[in-house]
Amino acid sequence: MTARRPFIAANWKLQKTIAETRAFAITIRGDLANITASVAVAPSFTLLATAVDTFAGTSVYVAAQDLSMHDAGAFTGEVSGVQLRDVGCTATLIGHSERRQHHGETDEIVRKKLSAALRHGLLPILCIGETLAEREAGQTNEVVLGQLTRALDGSTPAELRTLVIAYEPVWAIGTGRTATPLDAQDVHSAIRQALSDRDAQLASETRILYGGSVNPGNASALLAQPDIDGALVGGASLDADSFLRIVRAAS
Ligand code: PGA
Repeated sequence: MTARRPFIAANWKLQKTIAETRAFAITIRGDLANITASVAVAPSFTLLATAVDTFAGTSVYVAAQDLSMHDAGAFTGEVSGVQLRDVGCTATLIGHSERRQHHGETDEIVRKKLSAALRHGLLPILCIGETLAEREAGQTNEVVLGQLTRALDGSTPAELRTLVIAYEPVWAIGTGRTATPLDAQDVHSAIRQALSDRDAQLASETRILYGGSVNPGNASALLAQPDIDGALVGGASLDADSFLRIVRAAS
């Protein structure tokens, strides 16, 4: 079995200015020598150029929080994979539950965005997860694996070589309520099994991150699970020292 390098990603959502981005990146840069995990930072579009400049020469992925399914054209307000590559971006979140909930992103849109990211060589961090009502109705695996299958539909294992998956139960995002390590592991294991049904190598190499109220206090127990390969961190990634503690827990 392939050893998967841990992956810790910061999702800043709608936060931070250019000066704050630079200060954060300078702090992280100073600590990279001690870090073995892959690290990604996903700021707003306006902060990408600053993040790219400040992390230049490091292995940190600068990720967008979203991208257009289109490459160019009359799509006001959209940002394409071409433009993300042009600014120096190397990764992108796709299908975050806040995009699905507040911006009407369907599985079909998510599939097209994944395909756009792969087309432009951006490492895709595909977000999937169930709502509280779905969990309470016992539909967690059905919902999560359904989202996964519909997103990957039409992509070959070779095309999905760089895929990173983030399992984020919607009820755990920004609520301070985390899935227990064992509950998260159950879903991660089901995700890996579904990948294995497609391709054994894809299953053994794909990093599956947990997201939802991850913080320096709970990261180690989550990361100790066999199928939890990292974390997608929102609130606790805004402060560089807090984020670094999580990265160190994974290193
Ligand atoms: P949270 O957000 O860590 O603040 O719960 C995680 C996410 O939405 O990616």
